[in-house]
Amino acid sequence: MTLANIPPAPELPGARHLHSGKVRDLYELTEGPHAGKLLMVASDRLSIFDFVLETTIPDKGEILTRMSLWWFDQLADLVPNHVISTDVPEAVRGRAVICERLDMFPVECVARGYLTGSGLLDYRATGEVCGIALPAGLDDGSRLETPIFTPATKADLGDHDENVSYDAVVATVGADTAAALRELTLRVYGRAEEIARGKGILLADTKFEFGVAPGGDGTIVLADEVLTPDSSRYWPADDWQPGRAQPSYDKQIVRNWALSPESGWDKSSGEAPPPLPPEVIERTRSRYLEAYELLTGERF
Ligand SMILES: Nc1ncnc2c1ncn2[C@@H]1O[C@H](COP(=O)(O)OP(=O)(O)OP(=O)(O)O)[C@@H](O)[C@H]1O
Ligand SMILES: [Mg+2]
Repeated sequence: MTLANIPPAPELPGARHLHSGKVRDLYELTEGPHAGKLLMVASDRLSIFDFVLETTIPDKGEILTRMSLWWFDQLADLVPNHVISTDVPEAVRGRAVICERLDMFPVECVARGYLTGSGLLDYRATGEVCGIALPAGLDDGSRLETPIFTPATKADLGDHDENVSYDAVVATVGADTAAALRELTLRVYGRAEEIARGKGILLADTKFEFGVAPGGDGTIVLADEVLTPDSSRYWPADDWQPGRAQPSYDKQIVRNWALSPESGWDKSSGEAPPPLPPEVIERTRSRYLEAYELLTGERF
């Protein structure tokens, strides 16, 4: 059992609040040219170990929103996406996207090119990840010979997603859709991995979500956020060294601090971690910025 402590979503003119996750707030637009569409707002919240921290990271929502939009562009020839416009209410400018409201497939479509995290735990326990047998002798951070599709089911707030077999996806969405989701996931991962590698960054794994337009022709559309450090593991290629945890472009700085004696936090206490010191906030912000600038080649 874990705790999430999500602040109330701000009221926005011309929008009705639908849902808040740990990091993002989802609205439906009620007025204007895009009435009926979704407004997905990325906050500056950060979660570690499923706790939403009291401290926010300045510009995180905007950095991740820009990164996701940049990636949607890089992938546009491979798969259609849900983005309609970035002309959003002033209060959330830069960190929100207007998107098509889709019927989402209840599958977290994960691709892994390297073994770590829950994939590594499953491999150590069973020699398999999501029913896919892997060769013996792999270690934390090992590169897989070919990237694999390791779907998960979405957990309720405060629970961990659960890795499931491909057969479980077939049982949920049918054989044709399961095959299409796997194919798209691996194709998009392949493109993104190649682009990132060209910038000196390894894309170890990532999670996509797909949906279809209600009443449409069934075309599968890439939704949610894509290829941000919140949905992906990015590692500096130069530091990659299987056999240990890899340094990464995400909230690792915060996790390390929270687990260190300096924070005074006891992970097993069930309490949220204490507020972050300014120096940890700044280093975390810089890490996100660095990833954004390296990947996109743009200054923030
Ligand atoms: N185009 C879309 N149409 C409909 N729903 C979408 C679309 N894109 C994303 N979603 C859904 O919007 C929700 C975004 O929520 P968000 O990711 O903030 O929280 P969450 O997934 O409930 O929790 P977590 O904090 O664990 O991610 C998700 O349920 C996602 O599946
Ligand atoms: Mg989510």
